[in-house]
Amino acid sequence: MSHLMTFPPQQALIGGEWIKTTATLQVEAPATGEPLARIARSQVEEVNAAVKAARLAFSGQLGEWAHWSARKRSEWLLRFADVIEAHHEQLAQLECADTGKPMTQAKGDISACARYFRFYGGAADKIHGETIPFETDFAVMTLREPYGVCAQIIPWNYPSQIFGRCVAAGLAAGNTIVLKPAEDACLSVLRMSELAVQHGLPPGALNVVPGLGFEAGAALAAHPQIDHLSFTGSPETGTHVAQAAAQHHVPVTLELGGKSPQLVFADADLEEALSAVVRGIIQNAGQTCSAGSRLLVQREIADNVIDNLCKRFNALRCDTGEADADCGPLINARQKAKLEERLSAAKADGIRVAAIGKLTSSVPSGGHFVLPQLLTDIPDGHEVLREELFGPVLVVQVFEDEAEALALANATDFGLCAGIWTRDGGRQLRLAKGIRSGQVFINNYGAAGGVELPFGGVGRSGHGREKGFEGLRSYTRIKTIAIKHG
Ligand code: NAI
Ligand code: MG
Repeated sequence: MSHLMTFPPQQALIGGEWIKTTATLQVEAPATGEPLARIARSQVEEVNAAVKAARLAFSGQLGEWAHWSARKRSEWLLRFADVIEAHHEQLAQLECADTGKPMTQAKGDISACARYFRFYGGAADKIHGETIPFETDFAVMTLREPYGVCAQIIPWNYPSQIFGRCVAAGLAAGNTIVLKPAEDACLSVLRMSELAVQHGLPPGALNVVPGLGFEAGAALAAHPQIDHLSFTGSPETGTHVAQAAAQHHVPVTLELGGKSPQLVFADADLEEALSAVVRGIIQNAGQTCSAGSRLLVQREIADNVIDNLCKRFNALRCDTGEADADCGPLINARQKAKLEERLSAAKADGIRVAAIGKLTSSVPSGGHFVLPQLLTDIPDGHEVLREELFGPVLVVQVFEDEAEALALANATDFGLCAGIWTRDGGRQLRLAKGIRSGQVFINNYGAAGGVELPFGGVGRSGHGREKGFEGLRSYTRIKTIAIKHG
């Protein structure tokens, strides 16, 4: 791994300079439990310095950023997408080792990250305000302005993709950024940040303060000089950061995960549906905010579908990311212990493990593996039907008809995504309208990442939208200018 670490992972990026922090943190490889790298453990002082640099860059007192036109930002973002592609191999290796995800998925994540820079690069000079008809002696217009300093706190499950969707959109709109990546996985983010500086991003436009949530993260969320906060992670931490931001009336976007259902009706194309159902829960070992973690299946095909899925789950293999099997390890020992505790409680409540995957024989013993599994015979309203497990565990429920399917789909406090598998067009749209969630997929699930597709939750899944044009708009605010010309 050391051959990959040709960049300064033990430092924070502040005002265009990499600064050595006094404290550092050990990062481990989830597949082996062994040390992988040391990263900076930023403290309040570093967070303060990063916010200050971002403010100076935004106001034009540091570097060129504030003087760049929308077209210049667009050109830089498009060029940076090419830089990411040119370093694809190294970035994918870092992502794979750091998160433990299978190499094919790590590669896909780096490609998606480059696509975010390309999408928002293309959009940077195409987002604008309006003119509004008003009294005859007035001209009224709206400007779509950047907020200023955007704080972005991101998780460990998709470091490079979430870097892409947050940083590319924030910069495209003309903001400056202070990014707090996750302590559990941030090496690809540090490398891309270094590449950004090397390839001409002006100082202070992007600042990065790696470190712990309750230190660097909490200091950033509570900082009086930030203008916007975007957070992706757990509902509990989302509440903390939103409370901290509220002290200074800072607007927040919260993306907090889900318990997303896949509804499979008797008239569905089962081959397509069941392949997507399995992919939707084992991707990144189920550590995906939009994981399709609940299967709702219609009674008349339930036995057949469960048999079919049992075969598929029993055939799944877990291995290191490098081995590129179906499933990698969970991110750390804590996440594994939390999931195993929930699984034993579920078994004690009579829930059946109908099928389970296997570890390949060569897997190192220190890895944080939890085998992919299918749970059936679940009592109504059980915790495993309502809480995010964040692992490769699919829970199955049976419904009679459309009305019951809808009621079950909406029977959690989350609402991020849903998949509907049926050939009946009327039912597709009735359910799509009735389901409480930010995204609905009909006869597909996930739409291959969906850089272009607005994404976000309702209820406990959070609020605000990332991705697509909507994500870009959310990094701007409207100013109304009313001119009385007489
Ligand atoms: P977390 O929400 O605590 O961590 C996410 C980010 O927030 C990290 O960068 C972390 O350093 C930061 N953070 C933590 N505490 C903070 C605080 N007090 N102030 C500011 N920032 C803080 O998530 P964690 O503990 O890693 O995972 C716990 C659960 O959260 C998972 O089991 C899963 O259910 C959920 N989760 C959801 C994600 C999603 O994609 N929506 C991503 C990661 C976790
Ligand atoms: Mg936490």
